[in-house]
Amino acid sequence: MKAIIFGITGQDGSYLAELLLEKGYEVVGITRRVSVPTLNRINHILPKIKIVEGDITDAFSVSNVIKEEAPDEIYNLAAQSHVGTSFKQPSLTWDVTAGGVLNILEAIRYSGRKDDIKFYQASSSEMFGKNYNLQEGFAEMIKYQDEKTPFAPQSPYAIAKLAAHHLVRNYRDSYGIFACSGILFNHESERRGEKFVTRKITKWIGDFVKWRNPTNELGQILSDELSDARMEFLDNIEDIDDENRIYNSLMDKEGFPKLRLGNLDAKRDWGHAEDYVRGMWEMVQHETPNDYVVATGETYSVREFLDIAFKHIGIEDWQDFVVIDPEFYRPAEVDYLLGIPAKAKRVLGWEPQISFEQLVERMVDSDVEEARLQRPDLQRV
Ligand code: NAP
Ligand code: GDD
Repeated sequence: MKAIIFGITGQDGSYLAELLLEKGYEVVGITRRVSVPTLNRINHILPKIKIVEGDITDAFSVSNVIKEEAPDEIYNLAAQSHVGTSFKQPSLTWDVTAGGVLNILEAIRYSGRKDDIKFYQASSSEMFGKNYNLQEGFAEMIKYQDEKTPFAPQSPYAIAKLAAHHLVRNYRDSYGIFACSGILFNHESERRGEKFVTRKITKWIGDFVKWRNPTNELGQILSDELSDARMEFLDNIEDIDDENRIYNSLMDKEGFPKLRLGNLDAKRDWGHAEDYVRGMWEMVQHETPNDYVVATGETYSVREFLDIAFKHIGIEDWQDFVVIDPEFYRPAEVDYLLGIPAKAKRVLGWEPQISFEQLVERMVDSDVEEARLQRPDLQRV
């Protein structure tokens, strides 16, 4: 079996490539030309996969690669995937996240092998926007989303994803293409992009732990004396004005810049990407193409993520370390997501295996370790 992955350099692309290799697939990954390396998530599997240069906004490159590689399966994970950025770059988001999908579907249609290719599209729970269904629970009404919840997208990103979602259904109905969409709720991991809230938090924690317990070049923790001086600073942290601190030079500063976040009350259904790429593959293996919600069925606020993440490094009161910065508010917010993956469970036998607490702790451990072992590329996010 041969699979093409658009978006192989991203979080999901890297896990999906690993999964397909384990299953014996030939994997072809499409990457765009960029001025800095973007292969860090797939460095460890590079000798086992084929990389082809391409961009989903370029219809010719998409069509050529599909003709030349003659894949059995195509997974489209490529997108401008950051919701906040989509408000700042709506046109680019539209071209990549919606237009790119049309390019792939047309390329399949005219490939001469349209009945031999199975296509997966990465749809998103963001498409539900503010909508939810209600169901009676033990103590209160439960708000949730599933495949029947009407869409009400709240951002240029979600609107582009919804257009792509409808295109997939339309090409399935019109041309009989095996095309399915996974309506995936938020999924994170140790490889999550650093501008998404979960990784932004755990990356900050990794840098902070390194600052609190300085290490030498080998990653060994240095004398307690230094740590004590920094602990003293921490005891008095509420008196520090951190407005003008420069993140780039934080290792040389006596203090540490606070973590700047936006809306802490947003609730998300957060799973682990490793579980979710298994769901993608299972959808494509089913005999009929369909759309499925992939989620955990639980929802937590950004505050609850902070509770567990900071507790894991021994801090109960994270409020001392967090500043609300309106820069990270969105013009329109999605307040609440809780997905019911009953259809995926019933039809595909899919179930998540990694709990919310395990997810948070794995991400914190990974960033603490990464910061300890190497001086991170520190940038303000
Ligand atoms: P990600 O880490 O941001 O990866 C996005 C990928 O798309 C990267 O490989 C990126 O390449 C590639 N890409 C961007 N523009 C491209 C273009 N013009 N041509 C070709 N490739 C391009 O996203 P992710 O978290 O892995 O998510 C995978 C997909 O699932 C995305 O479509 C996302 O919108 C969707 N989704 C994600 C979640 C979630 O919670 N993670 C939930 C629902 C849906 P570079 O490395 O060159 O930037
Ligand atoms: N990024 C970010 N940065 N989000 C913040 C911050 C911050 O400093 N502070 C609070 N938040 C809030 C956002 O307002 C949002 O309500 C929530 O944290 C989650 O934000 P993100 O992690 O950026 O993810 P998202 O839910 O907007 O989008 C992700 O999930 C979608 C599926 O529901 C992305 O992966 C999308 O690509 C995906 O489709």
